Amino acid sequence: MIDDQRGPATRAIHGRPAPAGRGQPLVQPIVSATTFAFETADELGRTMAGELPGHTYSRLANPTVEEVGRVCAELEGAQDGQAFSSGMAAIATTLLSLLRPGDRLLAATQLYGNTYSLIERHLRPFGIDVAYVDATDLLAWEKPARVLYAETIANPGFPVADLGALAQRKGEGLLVVDNTFASPVLCRPLEHGADLVCHSATKYLNGHHDVTAGVVCGSRELVGRVRDTLTDLGGVLDPFPAYLLRRGLKTLGLRVARHCENALVLATFLDQHPAVERVHYAGLPGFPQHELARRQLDGFGGMMAVEIAGGREGGERFMNGLGLAARATSLGGVETVVHHPASTSHRHYPPERLAEIGISPGLVRVSVGCEDAADIVADFARALARL
Ligand SMILES: Cc1ncc(COP(=O)(O)O)c(C=O)c1O
Repeated sequence: MIDDQRGPATRAIHGRPAPAGRGQPLVQPIVSATTFAFETADELGRTMAGELPGHTYSRLANPTVEEVGRVCAELEGAQDGQAFSSGMAAIATTLLSLLRPGDRLLAATQLYGNTYSLIERHLRPFGIDVAYVDATDLLAWEKPARVLYAETIANPGFPVADLGALAQRKGEGLLVVDNTFASPVLCRPLEHGADLVCHSATKYLNGHHDVTAGVVCGSRELVGRVRDTLTDLGGVLDPFPAYLLRRGLKTLGLRVARHCENALVLATFLDQHPAVERVHYAGLPGFPQHELARRQLDGFGGMMAVEIAGGREGGERFMNGLGLAARATSLGGVETVVHHPASTSHRHYPPERLAEIGISPGLVRVSVGCEDAADIVADFARALARL
């Protein structure tokens, strides 16, 4: 862990101290070159072998992309960080680098949909012994496993995983945490004993709905192993989105503070509204894991789910009545975005299965943006009044 008392906003803006030198660019330039030229064949060979510092080929390492890894490592309190072409590339590459046939993967029941299908459609057929347990049911995590996998805050009801308790129970295994919904501003899983942290950087880290990227942070040794697998699998980030992501990261501290502020205002308003049956937001005192969230997070985040009276039709009508909030599927950007799982991402699920995973027909997921809180509340109030 880096011995550094700087706050997350400072870390996001400044990253790791740059090497001293006069007239250095203040921001990392876009190095679009795929290949790098050397004076001699020997120099190229030794640089490729890692005996000399430098870049040789951008699938192996690129200066613009490396900067993103360094800043994210700084934010997560990690020795090293690596950027990827998407969150799924980061997660898949990480799990493939840690697991071998016959190993057990113990994963939380509440997982991002494509992480679940990665495990079921790709890891299980390769001989990984997969088991699921509820992230909030700690006793069930007793089984030994090569990898324990959980999300700091998961979809759709936003259960919070007790990372410290999971780390105590990991035994010889490695704890891998998807920290996408919290962001390192609110939670740094390595501080709680996790071994690797993954992100869909598409979400809060970039924050502007215009970059698809992923990140993994952890010890030099583990990130090195993941990076070796990345070299073979090839899910590398391109320099231009890496530049945009680096730029987005500069305002991470500001944005996350605003997301949290706005979300608490909106959740409090919705919680008292007669057309709303239930609000799932870790910042509300009635949230089942409110105390754990207080202990583990430096804020309650910008994600919530709202159950609207009138079931699926009520949920859809409510969404269609919104004017400021966009009906879209992603999250973590400056724009407020709403998503209705029952009619979109989970539309093929029968009602019983939806209920099992905590998605009621009228549930609407809200990624609260950075607009003025009063405008967000007014938009939601208008849509509810029309029901
Ligand atoms: C929690 C979580 N993890 C991983 C991913 C995958 O990230 P990406 O879409 O960048 O591949 C997502 C995407 O929504 C997510 O919400």
